[in-house]
Amino acid sequence: MDDLQTLKDEFLSRLANAERSSDIQELRTEFLGKKGKLTDLLRSLGDLPAEDRPEAGKRINEAKNLFEARIKEALSDIQSREIKQKLTSESIDITLPGISPEPGGRHPISRILDEVIEIFVSMGFGVEEGPEVELDFYNFEALNIPRDHPARDMQDTFYINDDMVLRTHTSPVQVRVMQERKPPLQIIAPGKVYRCDADVSHTPMFHQVEGLMVDTKITFANLKSVLESFLHVMFGPDTPVRFRPSYFPFTEPSAEVDIGCIFCKGKGCRVCKSTGWLEILGSGMVNPKVYEMSGYDPGKYTGFAFGMGIERITMLKYGIDDIRLFYENDLRFLRQF
Ligand code: DAH
Repeated sequence: MDDLQTLKDEFLSRLANAERSSDIQELRTEFLGKKGKLTDLLRSLGDLPAEDRPEAGKRINEAKNLFEARIKEALSDIQSREIKQKLTSESIDITLPGISPEPGGRHPISRILDEVIEIFVSMGFGVEEGPEVELDFYNFEALNIPRDHPARDMQDTFYINDDMVLRTHTSPVQVRVMQERKPPLQIIAPGKVYRCDADVSHTPMFHQVEGLMVDTKITFANLKSVLESFLHVMFGPDTPVRFRPSYFPFTEPSAEVDIGCIFCKGKGCRVCKSTGWLEILGSGMVNPKVYEMSGYDPGKYTGFAFGMGIERITMLKYGIDDIRLFYENDLRFLRQF
């Protein structure tokens, strides 16, 4: 019985000191396991005189029940403590600032393209589209650029086959629209165009916006006022605009349109190559040959057309000096807009 008391004391004090559930499992094996200390004591009952056995057996069983109850208690205490600890250590600090998702942004070319479209739409122009893989007929022949014409050398063309090209400009949309509809016409045609060319001011793909206005009494004065109005909204009301005689096979007469340099205000700088002017677009009165090719009566209708490069306008507006930056997908560049 003394042994039993010693065992009890040892068990209870060690249990009191147990810190982890694994310590308690070890105690259980040490005292109650097959070769445990209390189990040994139970086995040694046979050494006692027969009359003492029932009493001793009862005490040992009581001790066993006590050990088991205490182990159960201690385990549940420790487990709830461990769970609490885990919850605190893994808890979320809701005072930390959040990681905000990076929203996408519009590409600078899309922004300016939309701005250009919006200005013309506000003046009553409708928006048309044409195919990027275009017949030679629409891209060249119908625009008064026959096969052996030197003007074909003005544009480095990607040929799909003898009769098909990647359109080199948006001008073919003029002919497609005229074939489909009768005047009055007042349309723009934005889109991608392709030329076999690459350097700081050329990429093989770029964007243009074409314009066309046709009716019975359209004059060069209409062309001037529409383009001047557009350029004054786009670059500011005080921007000087200049019409300079030029040549395009599909217009007669033709004019190139310049604005006063927005960087040096006309004094002369690197961007305007010391001329004080920046070339912005091509334009002219539609050549009667183009009406003929489109099925219009050239004696009846007059009109003007124009075409501009969106990359160039975007570069001027944002002060970008290398066109290739638009298509390198460098986020450090794109994030600035
Ligand atoms: N298609 C010409 C080009 O890509 C631009 C152009 C010039 C368009 C004069 C026109 C125009 O409609 O009248 O270089």
